[in-house]
Amino acid sequence: MLDLSPDELSRSLEAALAIKRDGSGPVLAGQTLALLFEKPSLRTRVSFEVAMARLGGRALYLHDAEVGLDRREPAKDVARVLSRMVDGIASRTFKHDTMTALAHWASVPVINALSDGEHPCQALADLLTLRERCGALRGLRLTYVGEGNNVAISLAYASVLAGMHFTCASPDTYGLPADVIEAAAGLGGGGTVRQLLDPHEAVRDAQAVYTDVWASMGEEHLLAGRLEAFAAYRVDAALMASAPSDALVMHDLPAHRGEEITDDVIESSRSVVFDQAENRVHTQQAVLLLLMARPAA
Ligand code: CP
Ligand code: NVA
Repeated sequence: MLDLSPDELSRSLEAALAIKRDGSGPVLAGQTLALLFEKPSLRTRVSFEVAMARLGGRALYLHDAEVGLDRREPAKDVARVLSRMVDGIASRTFKHDTMTALAHWASVPVINALSDGEHPCQALADLLTLRERCGALRGLRLTYVGEGNNVAISLAYASVLAGMHFTCASPDTYGLPADVIEAAAGLGGGGTVRQLLDPHEAVRDAQAVYTDVWASMGEEHLLAGRLEAFAAYRVDAALMASAPSDALVMHDLPAHRGEEITDDVIESSRSVVFDQAENRVHTQQAVLLLLMARPAA
């Protein structure tokens, strides 16, 4: 997310809105995007494949069981080989360092399709959803309840870049990393980030309440040890009663109903989770155009 300026973020969201409204031509005809995934995916894989098809190009899905990033072959070699064959790489990795190694060694654009450090493509779709529902993003109050994880980190950065006010409520020691809060504060864009302990205080003036799983992919073994600490951070009817009555409910999905969110809340009329999922296609088309469209000859 830190690779986007406030202006690029704003232009990408406006481009995504236009693409959603008017469609897009075959601007990436003849181009190939490699999808190099170490972890499972529904939304990210399908939305990138559909986005490339709508832009006239093609996506090539490569699961890590076959590629063996840093096992069969170092990431720096994978990046250089793919760069000789494809026009862009969207990668989903465990370690964020693997992502940055791919980006360093590739000579084609590398898009973070989720790492343990960030999930920027999700944040773009989330901001598009807020833009559609609430109008202008500047000044908008978004509260995230749960672990200060990859999804929360990208939302924090994106919020500041868009001039929004982002609040994160987490159990002690599970909040946003201190270096993320510091980096967010130094970004242009005019937004703010604050970390709280009390989820009820955090949602009090929220225009949207967002949550994500309590243990991310690859960390499922940590869940049992977290259930007690996170119980007060479940987004349920009692927590939503502390929020304004028209606050939206957001989740990147997949959701664990009964853990971080209850079924009644995610199924309520305030929930925009399927708008968020659909918007992945539109924002990813905008990102692919930003990075891969070639100037007209
Ligand atoms: N929200 C999201 O990234 O979903 P997937 O893990 O299914 O791609
Ligand atoms: N934080 C979650 C997001 C899944 C889309 C994970 O990394 O598993």
